Amino acid sequence: AEKTYIMIKPDGVQRGIVGNIISRFEQKGYKLCALKTKQASKELLEQHYKDLVEKPFFPKLRDYMLSGPVVCMVWEGKEAVATGRKMLGATNPLESAPGTIRGDFCIEVGRNICHGSDSVENAEREIGLWFEDGEVLDWTDHSFDWVYE
Ligand code: GTP
Ligand code: MG
Repeated sequence: AEKTYIMIKPDGVQRGIVGNIISRFEQKGYKLCALKTKQASKELLEQHYKDLVEKPFFPKLRDYMLSGPVVCMVWEGKEAVATGRKMLGATNPLESAPGTIRGDFCIEVGRNICHGSDSVENAEREIGLWFEDGEVLDWTDHSFDWVYE
């Protein structure tokens, strides 16, 4: 099944929104395959944001992401990548719909609480960057038949 990489950024951790974000993905019906806290490094962030390293805002983005622990997660289920992005909301929180994570909890693009993979290919790449082999589990979700027809 499709997996996505969802990360709670340092502001989400500091502001105590971790549980709410996990709850939303659990309640949706997605399966939690990996979860940990981590202090990011410059090198890891340069790989994670490889398409953004030349942007003028990258140094600020890197310092923001280095400013405290992040929570790294892998969620699995039908169309988890695209649906995960919808659950996060638009990148700019002033444009994120109410009911989305960013729409409900933040205001500025440089403090937008969470990250979600933007393609299946990038999800695989990001899971490989943030997790070691063996940290991502395949397990039988006994609510499966109540979530999927
Ligand atoms: P992620 O799920 O975090 O990857 O967001 P995204 O895919 O919606 O946006 P993108 O990958 O283009 O940008 C990654 C992150 O960089 C955003 O979530 C913001 O935190 C930050 N960012 C993007 N654009 C800007 C900007 O113009 N200014 C600042 N300060 N930060 C930005
Ligand atoms: Mg992105």
